[in-house]
Amino acid sequence: MCGIVGYVGKERAAPVLLEGLKKLEYRGYDSAGIATLSAGKLQVAKRKGRVEGLASAAQTLQGNIGIAHTRWATHGAPSERNAHPHVYRGIAVVHNGIIENAKELREECEAKGEVFSSETDSEVIAHLIAETYRGDLLLAVKEGTARLKGSYAIAVLCEGAGNVIAAAKRGSPLLAGKGERCVLASDLPAAAAFAKEVYALKDGEFALLKGNEVRLFDGELNEIRREPLKFDLKEEDGGKNGFSHHMLKEMAEIPASIANSLVNLQAKSRFSPICIVLCQTYYIQIVACGTAYHSGVAAKAAIEALSRVPVEVCIASEYRYRDPIVRKGTLVIAVSQSGETADTIAAAKCAKEKGAKVLALTNVPYSSLTEVCDFCIYTHAGREVAVAATKSFMAQLAALFSLASALAELKGRSAPPLAPFPALAEDALARSERVKGWAKALRSAKSVYFIGRGYDYAAALEGSLKLKEVSYLPGEGYPAGELKHGTLALVGADTPVVAIVGDKRIAEKTMNAVHEVRSRGARVFLVTTIEDLGAGILPLEDILTLPSCEAVFSPLLTVIPLQMLAYETAVLLGNDPDKPRNLAKSVTVE
Ligand code: G6P
Repeated sequence: MCGIVGYVGKERAAPVLLEGLKKLEYRGYDSAGIATLSAGKLQVAKRKGRVEGLASAAQTLQGNIGIAHTRWATHGAPSERNAHPHVYRGIAVVHNGIIENAKELREECEAKGEVFSSETDSEVIAHLIAETYRGDLLLAVKEGTARLKGSYAIAVLCEGAGNVIAAAKRGSPLLAGKGERCVLASDLPAAAAFAKEVYALKDGEFALLKGNEVRLFDGELNEIRREPLKFDLKEEDGGKNGFSHHMLKEMAEIPASIANSLVNLQAKSRFSPICIVLCQTYYIQIVACGTAYHSGVAAKAAIEALSRVPVEVCIASEYRYRDPIVRKGTLVIAVSQSGETADTIAAAKCAKEKGAKVLALTNVPYSSLTEVCDFCIYTHAGREVAVAATKSFMAQLAALFSLASALAELKGRSAPPLAPFPALAEDALARSERVKGWAKALRSAKSVYFIGRGYDYAAALEGSLKLKEVSYLPGEGYPAGELKHGTLALVGADTPVVAIVGDKRIAEKTMNAVHEVRSRGARVFLVTTIEDLGAGILPLEDILTLPSCEAVFSPLLTVIPLQMLAYETAVLLGNDPDKPRNLAKSVTVE
């Protein structure tokens, strides 16, 4: 992953680059660095840790042109030495992506006597460009990158090439913008913060930034003209709006995210491209990673129940390499908050090659996934800063459930209304205060199990992932009925269990599992939409009753207290829930 920024303008570059890095820090935060050019000489500052730790070192950097990087380690531990920019013979490079043939290329360079100063895959790019540089930086970037296998978005500065930044893209996102100043950035909000006109580079393209000019080139270095992106980004300051953390602020925004994301596909003309494809859909595959995968698990249950169209949910990183079977009439839905997850993009490409129609469901306009897919539905959750997805998950659920309803109606079946859910979610949020007490019990747990059946299983998976991500407590989301077939061996007094029940029909079955784990000493916390469930069995303070709702859509409510529980536990344990260790919000490497 990682985020990259470039800047050419009239102001001193370092403060602008730091601002840009802060906007991209969600992409990785284990080290950061900046290189500027001042009077034709490179000046570099790097630090291990977060971007804020770089600020004082960056104060000494002069020059009105520079490149910068915030890192999520792939090759080489997080350290100052492995932080970007990497500099070799007057060439400075920042890189987002993975170079798969870095080892061979590095050995070749070392055989020629070149000395490397880091363990990263990225440093070899600086070496290759330095080797080919003969006074024309763009040409050297073209020739240097021609030997790379893998993915990259790079920005390059060169001593002796003048005040110019060269850039190249293949497989990782890169945008260039111009206005009073010229910028490069890994995402649209970061580019749009500094430039009025923003252009998205496509794979195999190059860019040159000089003065207030951005020039784009195809793979043969022919200059190309491109329309700037049309975007309407609400100026979101990325602040916490009085909340102690972004994660808490974003959970408070869940009702609005659900409302914004409910897509009234039924109201769309039956002849709209998506509806025409839905009419011809007999089989669905959902590809996604992490939290987005869990929205797929919830969607499978809803789509199959409402429309009777069979759905397979696939972990995106597994999909491509298993030679998936794509039958005629298959719609593949690629779900990704960021639209930049490399595994999901690769799965979408693979599905397209196999003849499927591919629908992107994403929160980010112009993200790379939208380029690959035939159609797109935006989830309109607004910018999500905290690494752990909360409101964006709810927005994904709302859009996928809308799709399930539309498909059901197109197949001549009915579906319950989704319109009450923003208000129900508001109520669920208010009731979730109760989990503060539960967090105290969780903080000393050895591990935590989340159990649910049917519609509740997706909620169990997501509750467990959230807790792992921000509190670092081990555990699992498990089908309630399956626990007794093995995992029960791990349950005892130090393994609390969170049971989720949003469906009356299977309530007693899940409660059987509750009795089983309680008999082994586990404390059980119950999240349910069913009035009086658990009363007389569990202490009242261990039961959270949410407003009742249609069972098929109940994850829109039951996941809310689970997110809150993860948050409260993380805070009690002294963790930063917004930036969990080892993780990044968007993983742009396979
Ligand atoms: C990363 C994040 C997860 C996220 C997953 C998929 O691993 O840490 O929180 O769920 O990527 O992200 P996407 O942007 O594709 O939804």
